[in-house]
Amino acid sequence: MKNDSSFDFDTVVNRRGTDSAKWDKYQGRDIIPLWVADMDFKSPPAILRAIRERIEHGVFGYTLPPSELNAVVVSRLNDQYGWEIESEWLVWLPGLVTGFNAVCRAVGSDGDDVMTAVPVYHPFLSAPANFGRRLIKVPLMETNWRWSFDFDRIEESVGPQTRLFLLCSPHNPVGRVFSAEELTTLARICETHDMIICSDEIHCDLILDPEKTHIPTASLSASVADRTITLMSASKTFNTPGLGCAFAVISNRALRKRFVRAIAGIVPHVNALGYVATLAAFRDCADWHAALLDYLRANRDLVADAISQMPNLSMAPLEATYLAWIDVRKAGIENPIEFFEADGIGMQDGADFDGPGFVRLNFGCPRETLHEALRRMAGAMEKLDTGCWMLDA
Ligand SMILES: Cc1ncc(COP(=O)(O)O)c(C=O)c1O
Repeated sequence: MKNDSSFDFDTVVNRRGTDSAKWDKYQGRDIIPLWVADMDFKSPPAILRAIRERIEHGVFGYTLPPSELNAVVVSRLNDQYGWEIESEWLVWLPGLVTGFNAVCRAVGSDGDDVMTAVPVYHPFLSAPANFGRRLIKVPLMETNWRWSFDFDRIEESVGPQTRLFLLCSPHNPVGRVFSAEELTTLARICETHDMIICSDEIHCDLILDPEKTHIPTASLSASVADRTITLMSASKTFNTPGLGCAFAVISNRALRKRFVRAIAGIVPHVNALGYVATLAAFRDCADWHAALLDYLRANRDLVADAISQMPNLSMAPLEATYLAWIDVRKAGIENPIEFFEADGIGMQDGADFDGPGFVRLNFGCPRETLHEALRRMAGAMEKLDTGCWMLDA
């Protein structure tokens, strides 16, 4: 069955046997993978067309960013977020993980501290130690079904060696779109303590709550921009993470120089197809993007509704991303990942994000797949409720 738009998100594409990290994890097992953050949809037709054309050319030499690309990014950031940037502020990268690791390398020196708020996308947790930096983790707070920063604890935890804050905005895994007030308060703390902000905004075009808008941290003010390195990519929204193309926006020339020095000689060029896909995504895919958001909103509602009916599971309203952050603490399950895998659902362990007692469910998949996964989940919870799971184990 097709969805209402002319784009097809309903067809189940068989990803088995395609060396997909997500699907190959469960090779030979009847487990629906809902873990790593890529979607099971084909990329937009305009991207596929652009890649096909590029492949037809047949020569894949060292490639510069397409001449149009910087201008397209500059105008897109202005159109979408009212954020005015200059073309020279852009640094192209093969990925965001590379980007925030490079930031850890570029900012401060051995033994300095890097702060982040947890739970958080797990490579944030390992990046500081890759460069001899100490990680300071400050828990996010959940109050009245809303995750937020604990500003008092952030302020208290800043030490004389704290040089950098790694921010995930919108937030993976809690799915928040931070308000101007929240971002301003955080930025003020960073300004007071002379900390650089690395703002990972990879999920910025996946806003599901129509009342919310993404605010790039660096767009708050010129002085915040001066201490901010923003990381972005088309890869999450247009489902091209396997094509390795991302960018940093750094308005402060000295900071940009440090960043470029940190990647020099060790970070490879962006590949030709990644550039082509990014250009097509940002220039030609607005309709597909709108249709995707509608589809994901309906998927999110399905997940939220199903979870609300499962005993002892809960989730706060999800404002962005296609990743549901589900609280399983009340269910008393010792190993939630193994528990759900036993019934054919492969989610990601909250402990990976420094959020034990939670699981992360990726609903970026056709509705048929999601229905089946939720049916299996409900079955698993029902067995738990009646004690049958103990007998199975
Ligand atoms: C917050 C965040 N940053 C970065 C990445 C990965 O970025 P990349 O594949 O460009 O290294 C992800 C992927 O899930 C993510 O959620």
